[in-house]
Amino acid sequence: MTSNGLPELPADFLFGAATASYQIEGAVHEGGRGPSIWDTYSHTPGAVDRGETGDVACDHYHRYREDVALLKELGVDAYRFSIAWPRIQPTGSGPANPEGLAFYDRLVDELLNAGIEPVATLYHWDLPQALEDEGGWRVRTTAERFGEYARIVADRLGDRVARWITLNEPFCAAFIGHAIGRHAPGTREGTPAIATSHHLLLAHGLATEQLRASAAEHGRRAEVGITLNLDRLIPATDSAEDRAAVDRAETLHNRVWLDPLLGGTYPENEAETWGELADGSYRRDGDLEIIGRPLDFMGINYYRPTKLKDAPYDEADPDRRTATDIRVADVPFDGVRHTRMDWPVVPESFTDLLVDVQRRYPDLPPVYITENGSAEADQDRTGDRVHDSERIDYLRGHLGAVADAVKAGVDVQGYFVWSLMDNFEWAFGYDRRFGIVRVDYETLERTPKDSYHWYRDLIREHAAKRV
Ligand code: FCB
Repeated sequence: MTSNGLPELPADFLFGAATASYQIEGAVHEGGRGPSIWDTYSHTPGAVDRGETGDVACDHYHRYREDVALLKELGVDAYRFSIAWPRIQPTGSGPANPEGLAFYDRLVDELLNAGIEPVATLYHWDLPQALEDEGGWRVRTTAERFGEYARIVADRLGDRVARWITLNEPFCAAFIGHAIGRHAPGTREGTPAIATSHHLLLAHGLATEQLRASAAEHGRRAEVGITLNLDRLIPATDSAEDRAAVDRAETLHNRVWLDPLLGGTYPENEAETWGELADGSYRRDGDLEIIGRPLDFMGINYYRPTKLKDAPYDEADPDRRTATDIRVADVPFDGVRHTRMDWPVVPESFTDLLVDVQRRYPDLPPVYITENGSAEADQDRTGDRVHDSERIDYLRGHLGAVADAVKAGVDVQGYFVWSLMDNFEWAFGYDRRFGIVRVDYETLERTPKDSYHWYRDLIREHAAKRV
């Protein structure tokens, strides 16, 4: 045990912090950036709480130097950020926008000068609106465009960026975006939503090929992975019905990604999960081969477990069956603390999830936890100090859960806290604060919270073990 109460992690374990472009950058009309589906969605009345948008966000586009200085003081080994596709290709295809590339050039150089490894995510949900207008992820051409975009970025930044994440949480992009309708583009669809999941995977495979081809051509090193938000799903009771409900949800949340990526197959219970909605019309021979290109690492985002029970279809609306209507319902998680997102805090579920994924997929590559953290009210303040003890407890518990998974044989090699700073939390707007740095949205001033200092001390203590 260290003085932070943290179980031991391997000496070369990597510590990082994460953010995403639309959530922090702002400057949506600057540098030749084109509109994304999140600009359109956030400006749609009623879509985001209080009508908030990412127009200004944390103004990171102008303040990235200050933010890198915060990362340097924090002492992280690596910083995970995302690249806004509409800054690189304002309409999602065609030649690169030099100003967009120049911004990420500056950011990467600033990080390297601070001794921090840049880890770049190519897609954290800000699809160019022009591609959405042509069908978005429902159509195959968007996956092809994504491969071209990946190549542009890799050719330019690949001399300094060696670790790439193709997609962030395709579950959310596909199903919260096109079935639940609480993320951009905000629709409620059936078969087309399932098609988006396939095209996102295909986009991942095509981008992987391009990242590797660019590296080979230039004689560079490139490690490629994908980030999934895997769910730990728990049946409400031991009944056959509730266990079958969890099987369907496993497919919707986890297996739809993991089976093709790591097993070269589609989940065998698709028909049971989706019925006639999963008609396969969006698949072509050879797709599985592209999707299943070997991964150098698997990124896993984790926040909380979910308890589920069997539930009938919503008969009130039989014609509105969407891809997430798989006859399951959430059951409240009693007896544990809930965060400001109303998410239950159950660190041991994180260990269970990691151990279970390793057991089910023996070919699982090394794992990085690419996001984990908690939204808290952050009301306990003196002067400009934020005493976010709940967040510290959350992080300590979940890092402990990672250490337990490592002990149980899962090859977890690093952890990125979500998030470096408070930011635009999608449909919840600015009210859900995940940062270890507080952002005052009036002045845009940044103030490290107690959790920042706690994480900094932990990283320092860990670094001392390396020498
Ligand atoms: C994840 C997202 C990230 C952030 C956290 C709280 O689903 O990848 O952008 O919103 O949740």
